[in-house]
Amino acid sequence: MFALTLLVGVAVATPCRAQSKEADGRPRPVAVWPSGPLDVVVTFDRPVDPGWMMGRIVRYADPKDRSPESAGQLRIVGVRPRDDGRTLLLATDPHPRQARYQLPIPRTHGVPDDGSSETTAYDLSGLEATWAEGDPPGSEPSWTGWWPVLNLSESRRLTAGSRPHQVGWDLMSRNGRLGWAGWVSLPAGKITVRIRSSMPVEEATLGDAQGAGTVPGADGFFLAEMLVESRGEPLFFTASVRTGSVGNSAQVVASYRLEGDPEDRPIGREQWKLPWAPMSSASPTLEAAPIAVPDLSGGDATRGREIFRGERGRCAYCHVFRGEGGHVGPDLTPIVSKGRAELYRSIAAPSAAIAADFTTYTVATRDGQVFAGVVHAEGAEAIRVTDTNAKATTVRRDAIQEIRPSATSIMPPGLAAAIGQSGVRDLLAYLTTPAPEASR
Ligand code: HEC
Repeated sequence: MFALTLLVGVAVATPCRAQSKEADGRPRPVAVWPSGPLDVVVTFDRPVDPGWMMGRIVRYADPKDRSPESAGQLRIVGVRPRDDGRTLLLATDPHPRQARYQLPIPRTHGVPDDGSSETTAYDLSGLEATWAEGDPPGSEPSWTGWWPVLNLSESRRLTAGSRPHQVGWDLMSRNGRLGWAGWVSLPAGKITVRIRSSMPVEEATLGDAQGAGTVPGADGFFLAEMLVESRGEPLFFTASVRTGSVGNSAQVVASYRLEGDPEDRPIGREQWKLPWAPMSSASPTLEAAPIAVPDLSGGDATRGREIFRGERGRCAYCHVFRGEGGHVGPDLTPIVSKGRAELYRSIAAPSAAIAADFTTYTVATRDGQVFAGVVHAEGAEAIRVTDTNAKATTVRRDAIQEIRPSATSIMPPGLAAAIGQSGVRDLLAYLTTPAPEASR
């Protein structure tokens, strides 16, 4: 639906602006925003040492969902400096969900690292902005950035001090096309969304609705309007304006009006989400229907171990249990304490509750290949996608066209049936027997 420009040096937005309260010479983050599913941009008030943030962990949690599936972590595996070291492009593991992400900002800078850090929060809100030079504009954007909200003065205020943003603001006095894309959440009902701009609105789309505003009104502003029947679910939004005519006095504001309500309401920050943001923050519930749990008592742990390690179960391809096995899925050693019924559900319906950090993605490459699996960052230049057969493929980051989370686990479905009832009992006996020796 849209192409992602990864690691383009000039995105902008900042769910969180840190204030320089202490004058201790420590660099302070001015703005933080994700520039793609696998990248975060952080810009500081002064140059920083690029090695400073390498290897740190970004933790995330969903403030509205306390289940263990909703919290996890991403690693910072690559750091590229920009703007003489004031801006860092961080290559990370993928951002699996809408949540609050905590970027660690080390406390020490230029002195031996004591490992301590404070955090700056960001989330997946805002719009992706692109600017392409010329009339007609070139097909590849020459600038990609982040707007916290479709309101120019508000976005300028929220990103004040961010150099990548300043580059974007300056481009508005040049001939070209500035476009935005993102999801917008609106209340249910008949809604008119309006883009009011000092620049001609060449096109605007909201779900199926389209608008444009290329003839100025009496006040000199261009107005694009779109009427939608909203069901209260997020709608995909795009718009573009022609830049070059107004420069620094440019204005753009998006607002909406409910049928029968005369008031024009601003579309606020919390209503915008980045175009690639996973739109469901709830745990996937594809197999939410209750599963009938058969009689799981008894079983032979020794036979269970063979199933676990052999071709029948293939569990050890992906799982470590007591030190043996592969690392595609979570280490199963601690699950002894979970009951047999719950383990059975994890095997019979793997997608019902996907463990944090094991979200599956579909990855499409520019040359038309598609991979599905668990994604981990593999250094600054590549990611590793591991599929249902535990086969790993390395994909270069710059070859990725699109990456989306999917609601299915890569743990193969149908394992329970393949193993059979008595085999499942043996497997559960193995997994729930406190120590391997005790099985005899
Ligand atoms: C192709 C890789 C793969 C294979 C094969 C596989 N699993 Fe998994 N498994 C995963 C992944 C990835 C997850 C985490 C995502 C999820 O919860 O579905 C997982 C999750 C689980 C969980 C839930 C863990 C938790 O912390 O809640 C259990 C239990 C489990 N697997 C058991 C098994 C057993 C038993 C087998 C063999 C019969 C097996 N798996 C085979 C990849 C695999």
